[in-house]
Amino acid sequence: MCGIVGYIGTQNAVPYLIEGLSKLEYRGYDSAGIAINIDNQLKIFKTKGRLKNLEEILDPNAKSVIGIGHTRWATHGAPSNLNAHPHLNQSETIAVIHNGIIENYMEIKEWLIKDKKVTFKSETDSEVIAHLVDYFYEGDLLDAVYKAVDRMIGAYAIGVISKDEPNRLVAVRKDSPLIVGLGENENFIASDIPALLKYTRNMLLIENDEFVDLTKDKVTIYNSLRQPVEREVFKVTWDIDSAEKEGFEHFTLKEIFEQPKGVKETVLRRLNNKDEIVLEGVNFDAEILKNINKIYIVACGTAYHAGLIGRRAIEQFAKIPVECDVASEFRYRDPFVDDKTLFIAVSQSGETLDTLQSLREAKRKGARILSIVNVVGSSVARESDDLLYTWAGPEIGVASTKAYTTQLTAFYLLALYMGKLKGSIEEALYKAVINGLKTMPDLIQEVLDKGHEIQKLAAGQFNNEKVFFMGRGVDCDLAYEGSLKLKEISYINSFAIAAGELKHGTIALIEDETFVVALATQEKLYDKMLSNIKEVKARGAHVFAIAQAGNDQILKTSDEVFFIPRTMDELAPILAVVPTQLLAYYVSALRGNDVDKPRNLAKSVTVE
Ligand code: G6P
Repeated sequence: MCGIVGYIGTQNAVPYLIEGLSKLEYRGYDSAGIAINIDNQLKIFKTKGRLKNLEEILDPNAKSVIGIGHTRWATHGAPSNLNAHPHLNQSETIAVIHNGIIENYMEIKEWLIKDKKVTFKSETDSEVIAHLVDYFYEGDLLDAVYKAVDRMIGAYAIGVISKDEPNRLVAVRKDSPLIVGLGENENFIASDIPALLKYTRNMLLIENDEFVDLTKDKVTIYNSLRQPVEREVFKVTWDIDSAEKEGFEHFTLKEIFEQPKGVKETVLRRLNNKDEIVLEGVNFDAEILKNINKIYIVACGTAYHAGLIGRRAIEQFAKIPVECDVASEFRYRDPFVDDKTLFIAVSQSGETLDTLQSLREAKRKGARILSIVNVVGSSVARESDDLLYTWAGPEIGVASTKAYTTQLTAFYLLALYMGKLKGSIEEALYKAVINGLKTMPDLIQEVLDKGHEIQKLAAGQFNNEKVFFMGRGVDCDLAYEGSLKLKEISYINSFAIAAGELKHGTIALIEDETFVVALATQEKLYDKMLSNIKEVKARGAHVFAIAQAGNDQILKTSDEVFFIPRTMDELAPILAVVPTQLLAYYVSALRGNDVDKPRNLAKSVTVE
């Protein structure tokens, strides 16, 4: 989703803006632009397409010590040169970048057109901001931004510069991510830490309804009442390298291969030398847990799929009823949330707006909020009572991979922890799962070492447009994730189904050479899966099965089989997801797609 950057200092802003935007590319975008101040005139360069298109139209002599930049993911109006940001007011004295949606923009736009005779150049909601700031501008940019924001309803991270105040950059945040980077004689704004990491590790995390006034040597944060706010400097400890490709052709592949490390970090940081789970950040005890009579897990996309498996783990180990919802639906079904509810938000980015809004709704209704999040200091993390970080490291590829396996790991730890607190899990099972989790990094590596098998399979199937994933039990939840991965980066119209549901309609679609990915890792459901495989085989399907090593009978019913190392049924998804990720990756690469930045998708969805 849209990314914003801003620079104010003593150097030429242009390379900083371009470099910053390049680090935000992963968020997904379809046009890009910058605004700078040349000889006291605001100059805009913007274009549809990728950053390289923007670089082509830049004036190589353009220099400015202040500037704002933007990557746009189209919502209001198609991707086009005119709809790209930054936007200017009519007299071209104010330039604005915006991530989010101004919900009441039509009303503001009509008023500006009718009463103020403003002519709009774009179809975007964001352009109203430039005209509104202009309308209120009386020599003080911060004051004008306060007044403009007061008229706006919606979500926004905004950066504004004025030709008349060339030494000032103003920013404001509500529900869309915004950080400030502190440099020497220079300061920055951005949507996300990687955009600034090359220049500084010292960040200020801006909260909702806060305004930031930046000059080259001073940053002041104000709250909505215009009072200055103190903010501790957030020091980024991870390295820029973790946001680089390190020899892999794509971030997505690199991130798939980082899973042993991510899972290891997520588990080992939580176990003491007696193998007891220590969840720093989770603040409830047995007494508080006793009061919890239901749990909602709410998330989007891949994080939701992790939640489906988390639900099973919590119900099995902690014996508390759990519902799992997609965040965009949760709020609209009037869920039974009260002070006996534990609400679990799952999010890689911690900025997905639907997840965040669901969290807030649950909080309003009295629920306790626990979040499983990857990005440290993100909005979801900050608004939670209890926090479980997945230590996956920065995930840049739009398709979520290592976030998923670390989310699953975090869920197992949480479920075991709650089971122990409640006394609802037997010691033997507890120990078996802990031991199983400890072996996961090595076992994932074993799976990755056989990646060439999947590469070969992909070479034979990458043009097959008819694909189904099916599974039973936890494999059904995994089928959803495998299918999502394939469709998001290969653009194949794949879908997933509970294998038992096949006969209730979907089997009508199976014909010669339909490619069926059959997940058959669950011992207790293995025989039933064999029957389902036979059913699709009998109708001409080409079956690729994933099963636990040693279950050789499946070789007779399937065209290809990938064997994962033996493990407990419960933990099998952590291993079995890997061949599905690799399949999606290789198919996408063979089709010549932009694997890391698939069309129409955004890494961090900050609109509802
Ligand atoms: C987007 C991404 C997905 C991700 C989903 C939820 O759709 O493309 O990969 O699973 O958002 O994101 P979150 O950051 O909340 O996990």
